[in-house]
Amino acid sequence: MIPFAVSLLDRLTTPIAVITETGLIEYRNGAFEATFGSDASAWLKDASRMLAGERGWLQGFFVDADDEPKTLDVEIEGRVYRVDRIMLVAREESRAVALSFDDVTAQREMEQAKSDFTSMVVHDLRGPLSGIQGTLEFVLSQEGTRLDAMYTDLLNEAQRESERMMGLINELLDFSKIESGNFVVEKEPVRIAGVLKRAVRSLQTVAARDEIFLVTAHGRDVPMIIGSVEKLTQAVINLVSNSLKFTPKKGMISVGAQVVRNGDTPDSIVVTVTDSGMGIKAAELAQIWEKYKQSGNKSLRGGGGTGLGLYIVKQIIEAHGGEISVASIEGVGTSMVLKLPVKRSTGASGGWPAVG
Ligand SMILES: Nc1ncnc2c1ncn2[C@@H]1O[C@H](COP(=O)(O)OP(=O)(O)OP(=O)(O)O)[C@@H](O)[C@H]1O
Ligand SMILES: [Mg+2]
Repeated sequence: MIPFAVSLLDRLTTPIAVITETGLIEYRNGAFEATFGSDASAWLKDASRMLAGERGWLQGFFVDADDEPKTLDVEIEGRVYRVDRIMLVAREESRAVALSFDDVTAQREMEQAKSDFTSMVVHDLRGPLSGIQGTLEFVLSQEGTRLDAMYTDLLNEAQRESERMMGLINELLDFSKIESGNFVVEKEPVRIAGVLKRAVRSLQTVAARDEIFLVTAHGRDVPMIIGSVEKLTQAVINLVSNSLKFTPKKGMISVGAQVVRNGDTPDSIVVTVTDSGMGIKAAELAQIWEKYKQSGNKSLRGGGGTGLGLYIVKQIIEAHGGEISVASIEGVGTSMVLKLPVKRSTGASGGWPAVG
């Protein structure tokens, strides 16, 4: 190496080393030596070996030979380092990687604490809110005790707002799970027709109150898929409540499911939520999936939301191996399209039964 380049690397405060596939250090800068000592061979040996059938993390940096940069969080001697591959040095006799090591222990601990705190608070908010909802429901359901019309209106309003708050809380809870990597989707057989029915049923009163015609339609031959009933229902509810927010009175929302076949074999199920609402500007379409992203559209029923809804829907659908897309024309309406793969079971029965 050119002497001046070497002294430059030595002045950097980030540990940098060139390491071979077998864990030998070909070069280390001053910061590397100061951080890990002159003998880093112990953990490097482990990192370069197969341990219990798993490749050590160092090996990971050699896996794809292309020059794509690669980053990995690695625990070394009780601290967490973000290891970045600066370059892969491929020579005839051996290969080596130039790696930099950033100590991110404090940062990762902070992120973890923040996300644990958020999930805990959000989770704990649900308890008292369910209590309030239960109370309101009870009071409103008391026939005979004729409440003054004014009070009934006020109580209805309170109920509506508490529903919205519950929606926000659930959204934040899911969001914090996604962010902390704890978002797991159960694997059970799911009847999509049932999912649509549940989602629509839970929003039928809201639709009726807003004078919106909400319908479902699905073929009789929609096969089962593997996934989470609860998460998929929630995804459809999110889409329908968006439609409800952005569709004027006397509008229509239709929720449907169809099978896409490959020859005779069901390949995927396409679920669509279509509304006759205000639509989304073409320029804004690409960004609606991003977290906290809200387009210029103003909700027709008050309540701004957080802009997390579609982000969460996308995560749910992708966790099922599916895709989500949108078609929208301003002033005409919006159609959200979910494509979910039908995985055939490998058993003799050959696939899930069709359900009507
Ligand atoms: N059916 C729709 N019709 C018109 N605009 C829509 C529709 N669905 C989504 N959008 C636009 O996309 C934006 C993002 O939707 P998203 O569900 O992520 O957030 P939100 O509904 O504003 O808030 P949240 O769902 O978190 O309560 C919305 O703010 C809205 O502008
Ligand atoms: Mg939404």
